[in-house]
Amino acid sequence: MVTFISHSPAQTSALGEQWGREAQPGLVIGLSGGLGVGKTVLAAGLARGLGVTARVQSPTFALVNEHRGGRLPFFHLDLYRLALRQDIIAAGLEPYLFKPAGVAVVEWIERWLKDGPWPPAPGMKMRRVEIKTAGENDREICYEDFGG
Ligand SMILES: Nc1ncnc2c1ncn2[C@@H]1O[C@H](COP(=O)(O)OP(=O)(O)OP(=O)(O)O)[C@@H](O)[C@H]1O
Ligand SMILES: [Mg+2]
Repeated sequence: MVTFISHSPAQTSALGEQWGREAQPGLVIGLSGGLGVGKTVLAAGLARGLGVTARVQSPTFALVNEHRGGRLPFFHLDLYRLALRQDIIAAGLEPYLFKPAGVAVVEWIERWLKDGPWPPAPGMKMRRVEIKTAGENDREICYEDFGG
């Protein structure tokens, strides 16, 4: 488990950018931490690190946004509105959580995790990230890698 302290949105974005530069195909990054904690800021930085130039916004209504044109396809999911694992599967999002054909960042991964385990598929690597508010502009970003 690694802990990174961010003191600004720019620092959170830069962490995401570094992850995007290093990301291998099949990586799934699950983000949790509550409303407005900085998940989309991290996701947008990651997109930039992949070389995605499009604007990245919370896909709360679309459920998933796909961005091509970077080094790898980037899939940005938001599970906020889906209460149960069954709903996530019914929405067709399960393939993104196991071995995406690119890199997937999943906001509100706790929606998926609360109903069971999330074992990495063969060849898949996942990073679980928890962001906590530690002050107005301070965030504690804890993450751990599984699989790979
Ligand atoms: N260190 C920081 N890192 C990230 N965001 C920060 C930081 N300090 C302040 N902020 C602010 O917190 C907010 C984070 O918004 P963001 O949309 O990324 O949250 P979110 O976790 O995606 O929320 P939601 O659950 O609604 O999708 C922004 O307004 C950002 O400017
Ligand atoms: Mg968001």
